[in-house]
Amino acid sequence: MSNDEFMAQNKRNWDDRAALHAQAVTGYRLDRYRDDRSLLSQVVDFDRRYLGDVTGQRALHLQCHIGTDTLSLARLGADVTGLDQSGASLDAARALFASVDTPGRFVESNVYDAADALAGEQFDLVYTGVGALNWLPDIAKWGEVVGALVRPGGSFYIRECHPMAYAIDDGEDVPTGTLRLKYPYFQTVEPMTFDDADTYVDTGGEQLSESRCHEWNHGLGEVFMALTNAGFQVTTLDEHKFLDWEMIPGQYERDELFYLPDQQLDMVPMMYSLAAVKTA
Ligand SMILES: C[S@@+](CC[C@H](N)C(=O)[O-])C[C@H]1O[C@@H](n2cnc3c(N)ncnc32)[C@H](O)[C@@H]1O
Repeated sequence: MSNDEFMAQNKRNWDDRAALHAQAVTGYRLDRYRDDRSLLSQVVDFDRRYLGDVTGQRALHLQCHIGTDTLSLARLGADVTGLDQSGASLDAARALFASVDTPGRFVESNVYDAADALAGEQFDLVYTGVGALNWLPDIAKWGEVVGALVRPGGSFYIRECHPMAYAIDDGEDVPTGTLRLKYPYFQTVEPMTFDDADTYVDTGGEQLSESRCHEWNHGLGEVFMALTNAGFQVTTLDEHKFLDWEMIPGQYERDELFYLPDQQLDMVPMMYSLAAVKTA
């Protein structure tokens, strides 16, 4: 299969997930954003310490999914545009925004076609992450796209699952207390292909009709160089010991974040935050 075919299958997989995620009573919990009009997603609530004041900024959220983080950026005062390849995700995001009377624009496009889909528009801030880069086959090409979307002097921020964490064996047969590598740390030509009709929130037993999906890991240096070569100066690179979801068996939950057990806590990073400024 070509990368376009892999990404087309991923799109079907995400269209299926979107409907389930929008109605799920665990995970995204859209009802909470309607009940509390000042609620921020856990993701943006953490990231705001890196973003600074976004009031009045034109912000583009790449791979915005059903819009919970996009809405949170809007609640921090940004003028938001969300972009995603999944039309079903954007339907859910638009409905969420309408239900809380919040202005926002949503554009359906593959990330790689974003500059065309947005007709060359540039933004003060491009924001992405938390399960975004792993769906993209070519990180250097992604860097060029991000470079085209940020205005000179504008900023980019991502918090993403660390490539080291993605490389860990997440199988249930791994003995408790053992960390084992299974997947490549670096970007590979061939994706890792998974076949799983379940998604990561409780769907009450409903399953995905498109169960196959394809992912690529991207080493930290590859991400750094993709942005540097696209005219960015990296200003922050922090590695974190938590994940927003339970990816590796044996993790424990604290304050809705997931950590490795104490004896492994300092061994490998689970996520990273990277901020950059477009200089060129
Ligand atoms: C895990 S979600 C995004 C993470 C977001 N933080 C969230 O949880 O709401 C991944 C999103 O990436 C989108 N996506 C995957 N590959 C894409 C691509 N090539 N272009 C645009 N969107 C893509 C999917 O449709 C999905 O909505």
